[in-house]
Amino acid sequence: MLKPVEFKKFYYIFPQSVALIGVKENVMPVAWHTPLSADPPLYGILISPKRFTYELLNRTDGFTVNFLEYKDARLIARTGGVSGRDCDKLKKFEIEYIQAQQVEGVILSRAYGAYECEKYAVQRYGDHLLFVGNIVQVYIKDGVVNEQGVIDEKSVAPIIYFGQDRYITIAPEKIHFISRSAVGSRMLLNGQNRGAVRRFRSSPATPGDGNTVRLTVKILRSFAGNSISPISGRSLSICPIFQIWQRRKRSCLNFRSVHWSRI
Ligand SMILES: Cc1cc2nc3c(=O)[nH]c(=O)nc-3n(C[C@H](O)[C@H](O)[C@H](O)COP(=O)(O)O)c2cc1C
Repeated sequence: MLKPVEFKKFYYIFPQSVALIGVKENVMPVAWHTPLSADPPLYGILISPKRFTYELLNRTDGFTVNFLEYKDARLIARTGGVSGRDCDKLKKFEIEYIQAQQVEGVILSRAYGAYECEKYAVQRYGDHLLFVGNIVQVYIKDGVVNEQGVIDEKSVAPIIYFGQDRYITIAPEKIHFISRSAVGSRMLLNGQNRGAVRRFRSSPATPGDGNTVRLTVKILRSFAGNSISPISGRSLSICPIFQIWQRRKRSCLNFRSVHWSRI
């Protein structure tokens, strides 16, 4: 059961990704960074005024954001453990880079993706400043995203910060595709499918394992009542929800008009 607690480091109760921010010839890791707008493409980084990076940001019009992998954890710890005021981090840690094209910052050769951002706005929030950048250039390593521009979980092991100097990464075999339109609002069109949504959410399953098979059977029964028996070896090998959604999309607009006999 959840209990109210005294909090200090409230930001350590959820995982965060880490990026290396480049300003002029210096880099620093941030765990506090986020997309802010898709159009225009705005990205925010939160920088304490204690950082040398903060001083540099006040002297230039942009910054870079470099996305690294789990294997780069040591580099992140190193660049976050020393200030650019005291040493040239790029030289000291032998960091390979190219200069950004449109802003004063570096693009790291080991990054799997990066942004160049022009300074768009700055706002203080308590003990940090939000620097908002307008993304003017995106870089991505070959083979890291699919045709839709979405990161491929098998090609990249992104670094995730777990708080207090702990780093962790993803387990690609745990990836779980759930079509939001299949399990979300469209299902509410038909009240009798709500049970299926609840059951799905309460029994997360990995595609291909034994749970998925049981889940498939449950969901199909619940959707289809007596009129369906579509379970074949092929249909069990990929995410069942996706398959239902794909077939439904082809044959009808909502659950009330599903012709289950077509499946
Ligand atoms: C994993 C990690 C995440 C960090 N996140 C932030 C952050 O979001 N904002 C910030 O101001 N400092 C953050 N820091 C601290 C700075 O990276 C660190 O103080 C760094 O040495 C500052 O470098 P600079 O003085 O050269 O700018 C983080 C450090 C680590 C190791």
